[in-house]
Amino acid sequence: MTGFPNGFLWGAASSAYQVEGAALTDGKGPSVQDIKTPPEGTPDFSVCSDHYHRFREDVALFAELGLKAYRFSIAWSRILPTGTGAANPAGVQFYSDLIDACLEHGIEPIVTMYHFDLPAALDATGGWGNPATVDAFEEFARTIFAAYGDRVKHWLTINEQNMMTIHAEFVIGGNLADYPVYQANHHMLLAQAKAMAACHEMLPQALIGPAPNISYTMPLETSPEDVLCAQYANAIRNWLYLDAAVFGRYNTLALDWIRRSGYELTITDEDLAVLAAGKPDFIAFNYYNTETVTYDPAGALVGEDGVIHGPGKVVLNPRFPITDWNWPIDPLGFRTTLQEIHSRYNLPMIVTENGLGAYDKLEEGNVVNDDYRITYLRDHIAAMRQAVDSGVPVFGYNPWSVMDLISTHEGFLKRYGFIYVNRNNDSELDLARYKKKSFFWYRSVIDSNGADLA
Ligand code: BG6
Repeated sequence: MTGFPNGFLWGAASSAYQVEGAALTDGKGPSVQDIKTPPEGTPDFSVCSDHYHRFREDVALFAELGLKAYRFSIAWSRILPTGTGAANPAGVQFYSDLIDACLEHGIEPIVTMYHFDLPAALDATGGWGNPATVDAFEEFARTIFAAYGDRVKHWLTINEQNMMTIHAEFVIGGNLADYPVYQANHHMLLAQAKAMAACHEMLPQALIGPAPNISYTMPLETSPEDVLCAQYANAIRNWLYLDAAVFGRYNTLALDWIRRSGYELTITDEDLAVLAAGKPDFIAFNYYNTETVTYDPAGALVGEDGVIHGPGKVVLNPRFPITDWNWPIDPLGFRTTLQEIHSRYNLPMIVTENGLGAYDKLEEGNVVNDDYRITYLRDHIAAMRQAVDSGVPVFGYNPWSVMDLISTHEGFLKRYGFIYVNRNNDSELDLARYKKKSFFWYRSVIDSNGADLA
């Protein structure tokens, strides 16, 4: 047992559109999140957890939690309201103040450059389907590197690009009819590569990496067909994104499946040169669960001739317990995922999301007894420690989420935070902050550098 290294970045995470509110305040332009119709029964993003107005109080609470790092995202349309052009001074100032507040408390800011909130003005001109968005992202990247590069060491390019591609209907927003999803994905890969190159050019001391959601995918049965489907599923869901970021090339199996599935995708020699020129310094990834697939002869993802060229069908693996929202719980799969990523890419790694969404209940005395969350996080941290002991160079862990915020489909019904935010889907109530039981537990984990998980 070697345990976690000194200086390990025990942090926690949020994203701008889910936590800040102030969606159109102080010159911020609308993002795709602000123009979409929220899922039924959930609020819009105008208030969220009101972090925009309460960030000083929140960061003081993060310091009390003992955080060494805070992973948050910058809302592109707060900086560049229409995605390109003149910067919005109030927006630039907001993140400057947030970064300073973190540093004053000894908390390292870890910045996600883009987390599901494309400026609506860019969406209107084709979003990621339009190659002009690649240049817009580079412009945005250079703007925030110039504004915050003196204080931010770790940068994350695009949150969960793979989920934006695979579940485009949920996260891209805008009009999805005929959306060229893999061409759009290709443009995001180019944008990411240009941002990584710009970061190295402008900020030689800074470090930058991609932040996909990686779920190691396993076969349901120990049959050769299921194993082959799992190999495709891993390539399409996971390795496509990291191979492009790290090696500057497309994963062969992913490309095979994209082409056979009939998706539009043009890759030029110039594009390949762009991909090759932007390299990450580390890999960040979000982990919630593993996935399981099985061979499905009737499935559209198996070739017409019945020969497998695709991932089969995703199924719920009966082996695992599930969350209230049917997400499998597989802590050992977290270790497998860490070890697999490391053995493929041999780069330092940081976990940028991991956590349990649950129906928390505020009880008498404003306490939340979220023992289920403690169990989930304890088991995952223990598995991560096993990976570290196996030699995987993990340098930080940022559970989702630092405080309650709007969940993608359920608003405030599904909570993840260490800090309870007193509001619900129908009313903003008083937005008071209360420390959950997991707050005190995580603080002692951090105090002991991960040795004490009791
Ligand atoms: C990740 C996202 O996919 O999972 C977050 O980066 C998201 O934005 C989180 O909130 C949890 O998902 P959900 O659907 O439970 O909110």
